[in-house]
Amino acid sequence: MTKVCAIQIGSFLAPNNLWLAPMAGVTDGPFRALCLRGGAGVVCAEMVSAHAVHYGNARSTRMLQITPREKPVSMQIFGSDEATIAEAARAAEARGADIIDINAGCPVKKINKAGAGCVLMKDPLHLGRLVAAAVKAVKVPVTLKTRIALKRSTILGPEIARIAESEGAAAIMMHARAAEDMHTGAPNLEALADVCAAVKIPVFGNGGIDGAEMAQKFFDTGCAGLLIGRAAVGNPYIFSDIKKGLAGEKVTVLNHKRRAEIYLALIEENVAHYGERIGVGRSKKTAGYWLRDFPGAADFRAKFVRMETLADIKKLFASFFS
Ligand SMILES: Cc1cc2nc3c(=O)[nH]c(=O)nc-3n(C[C@H](O)[C@H](O)[C@H](O)COP(=O)(O)O)c2cc1C
Repeated sequence: MTKVCAIQIGSFLAPNNLWLAPMAGVTDGPFRALCLRGGAGVVCAEMVSAHAVHYGNARSTRMLQITPREKPVSMQIFGSDEATIAEAARAAEARGADIIDINAGCPVKKINKAGAGCVLMKDPLHLGRLVAAAVKAVKVPVTLKTRIALKRSTILGPEIARIAESEGAAAIMMHARAAEDMHTGAPNLEALADVCAAVKIPVFGNGGIDGAEMAQKFFDTGCAGLLIGRAAVGNPYIFSDIKKGLAGEKVTVLNHKRRAEIYLALIEENVAHYGERIGVGRSKKTAGYWLRDFPGAADFRAKFVRMETLADIKKLFASFFS
């Protein structure tokens, strides 16, 4: 059954159920605004450390800032103890987050060493207490983003989803890959279906959704919504493309020129947002997604990554397409 539609998440009515997944270093303000224009129902921000917010870290506090054109937005926090999670949830709510999401899926060692991210799955009751602390701290809905398993062989998703639901989570964001698989490999849709069957709150499926065909497979598991990550980098219109595809409408594939135009516009936005040095630096990090399969991409990228000013980048893009 296909069902792209508005969706109620606790007290919040999201305009649709195709959301941008949180991606550190990628889903910042300019990219979130772009994906909303591309049809995302809600955009998830990069994860922010609850401890860093507690200590007033300037960068983390800046990451919580939201402008109206980036809404609706889900702000993701990561941490390991109830007090700081509650404090960070309150800070995100005060900055205008429509939803607070707790990260219990990140496999990055530095985060895991601090007892946060996917290692929280080892102790579902503790994870449940973190969810409860955030739910108690804020009025906006709290969601949990986690994974179906740490190791492929031991599925934890249904149990964790049930505990999160009982502690007041308004939805589950379920990456259908085990933490040991990081971000690669086929999603385990059977395990995802078990998660969907285990709870009454909406489950958003995630992991490898790159178009309408895959989206349909996820909806067939019983998911109420979808989280799309890397497929949106290089095609922020993936959300409206999936909606069209599921409705049987023709989807126009972005050609190289159009993709480059959108990328250049994003680079300009990044420079306006961060200033030239940081804006250009951040833009380069996603070059591989935007410029993939371009004729002469390696040469273009090699020149691009050496550039430091927007004016030079504009010249390079113009010469490439002239
Ligand atoms: C560069 C990158 C950064 C990510 N950062 C986060 C993050 O901050 N929080 C989070 O919960 N997941 C993060 N993820 C995981 C994504 O949200 C998503 O679960 C994963 O990419 C699978 O979805 P996809 O196959 O559609 O990309 C990140 C993934 C990537 C590739």
